[in-house]
Amino acid sequence: MSTLSKLSDFARYKLIAKDAHGIHSPFVFDLYNNVIEESYSYYDYDKLARVRRKLEQNNSIITIKDFGAGSKIFKSNERRISDICTHGIAPEKYARLLFRLVNFSAPATVIELGTSLGLTTMYLASAAKRAKVYSLEGSDSLVDFSRKQFQENDCKNIEVIPGNFDDQLPKLVSKLEKIDFVYIDGNHLKEPTLRYFEEVLKKSHNDSVIVFDDINWSEEMKAAWKEIKDHPQVRLTLDLHFIGIVFLRQEQKEKEHFVLKLISHQQP
Ligand SMILES: C[S@@+](CC[C@H](N)C(=O)[O-])C[C@H]1O[C@@H](n2cnc3c(N)ncnc32)[C@H](O)[C@@H]1O
Repeated sequence: MSTLSKLSDFARYKLIAKDAHGIHSPFVFDLYNNVIEESYSYYDYDKLARVRRKLEQNNSIITIKDFGAGSKIFKSNERRISDICTHGIAPEKYARLLFRLVNFSAPATVIELGTSLGLTTMYLASAAKRAKVYSLEGSDSLVDFSRKQFQENDCKNIEVIPGNFDDQLPKLVSKLEKIDFVYIDGNHLKEPTLRYFEEVLKKSHNDSVIVFDDINWSEEMKAAWKEIKDHPQVRLTLDLHFIGIVFLRQEQKEKEHFVLKLISHQQP
């Protein structure tokens, strides 16, 4: 996808995205005001911001194995931790949004596809300290690095599962009773994205929340997002341009899709 088409997609999003005034659904209106745009400054935000600053200053280099759709930023598999932190993981604004979404859905079981440095994993885990967070990562160096981060930052409710999502996700899903919250952030290609979605649906339930990163990253991801919206089990989707949020809520008879602004007054 060219830079020009990305810019025109973003301009289109800016034109059509709604804020609270344009939302007619009571559930979405409430979620928008009390979760998506909530401005409360949680204690964990400061703690995790300090971890981010440290990672941004970490100049050590690790060798990663590329499992997914590759990177549009990195040309080599030798990467500086500081560069991964700046270009390869969820920015603070979105990590905090994920924290609030987890806090709202109060999950017992969370799955993240793509651990990387483990920073976003710690947002997910901090928002639900009694939940178990399973984070899957294919690159051994990142598995080791993130495990150290979890130890250093006393995040005890995270289990990192090494290996390819293709093999590890079905194994994990088969041993879980139910899945409450999912964050899919790796292997941004259409076919695997839809396959991972079908896999997590097997143990999802009415109140499960499934979040996709980079829904407008490429033509393949745009096509995957369109199929996800059309999926018969999906009742409600929220498109925030960089991420898409899926709800199954079978009590909602009519399907609804919203394109929403993220105003980000939660930034420090
Ligand atoms: C965008 S990064 C994840 C960022 C992380 N969620 C965050 O925001 O902090 C994607 C990660 O997924 C991993 N990955 C991609 N495809 C994979 C696959 N098929 N199996 C296992 N890991 C994969 C990559 O190694 C990379 O670390």
